[in-house]
Amino acid sequence: MIRQDIERTIEFEFVRATENAALNTIKWLGRGEKELADAAACDAIYGVFDTVPMRGAVMIGEGIKDNAPGIFLGEHLGTWADNTPCFDIALDPIDGTTNVGKGMPNAISVISASQRKDPEVPAMINIPAFYVEKLAYGPKVVAAMQKNPSHPISLDAPVGQLLDFVAQALHKRVPELVVATIDRPRSAPLIAEVRKAGAALRMISDGDVTAAVAPSLADSGVDLFYGIGGAPEGILAASALKCLDGDIQLRMWFKDEQQRSDTAKEASAKDMQRIFFSRDLVPGSSAIFCATGITDSALLPGVKLIGETAITHSILMRAKSRTVRYIKAVHNLKEKTIRLRSDSTFHTVI
Ligand code: FBP
Repeated sequence: MIRQDIERTIEFEFVRATENAALNTIKWLGRGEKELADAAACDAIYGVFDTVPMRGAVMIGEGIKDNAPGIFLGEHLGTWADNTPCFDIALDPIDGTTNVGKGMPNAISVISASQRKDPEVPAMINIPAFYVEKLAYGPKVVAAMQKNPSHPISLDAPVGQLLDFVAQALHKRVPELVVATIDRPRSAPLIAEVRKAGAALRMISDGDVTAAVAPSLADSGVDLFYGIGGAPEGILAASALKCLDGDIQLRMWFKDEQQRSDTAKEASAKDMQRIFFSRDLVPGSSAIFCATGITDSALLPGVKLIGETAITHSILMRAKSRTVRYIKAVHNLKEKTIRLRSDSTFHTVI
């Protein structure tokens, strides 16, 4: 008997979920109602997973950062019928809610999952902090590090040395490098160092999952992502980078003593200083990453409404096969309906 790899089929339900989240969000574009947009995305994601035969446990949810509506740590997704596969799930129904509220670029709906081989052993690790430092790079940099592990690709390395090595690994000069970062006052020292070294900066206002994945995509125009952003978004990026042979380093960062002491209640002193790599956060061989563009980003075009159709663009990838699918879907709005959990019925898009 041929043993089916359940991930091969179930991954398409993840695309339905992020597509529906994106479609259910567009009515809130530019309306200044980011929480209603977030709630609409969550409702659509629940609506899809309520009928999917799996046992999904949310290991990395959203909302910790700002009390926004969200799908939270410990929630269950899927039917939870006996003998269905167990997945640990990380998700952000909208990464870039502020962007959606303002009608700005760089918003996606994103989910990742890792299958538990043993139902008792987690397949994804949560970092119980608001913020983490993040350093993400693509497969050529990973390969160069493997050849020479003494190379300074580390959150601890001086920025100038780090950029010299990235440039060498990519066969570029430092002034040709493009470093993406999230534009916040806390990024000021890093921004100054990158400018001093002579590399180019691309600053984003919000939505750093796309920016962390970008260096691992051949034609994104971004060579490195370095910044301080939300911890859940860092783990989502780690799942994607496992599928793309890139990597990310994450280390907890605290904006003040209150945040540090709150985190100390949940995390060991060792973990509070530790640098986590993708393999530490998503340790097994299984990883699925799926995202749909809500507004345009370096990763994906946003939803387009053209007459009676809506066009969505999604990326779907799996670590086991390393297949990266770009899925363009043309939805006929006369027929297309989205199931929402809030009333368990099907709704038209707009
Ligand atoms: P949400 O849309 O989920 O709120 O996250 C947006 C985001 O820009 C993330 O991409 C980023 O990691 C984080 O917020 C940065 O946090 P802050 O806005 O507090 O600086």
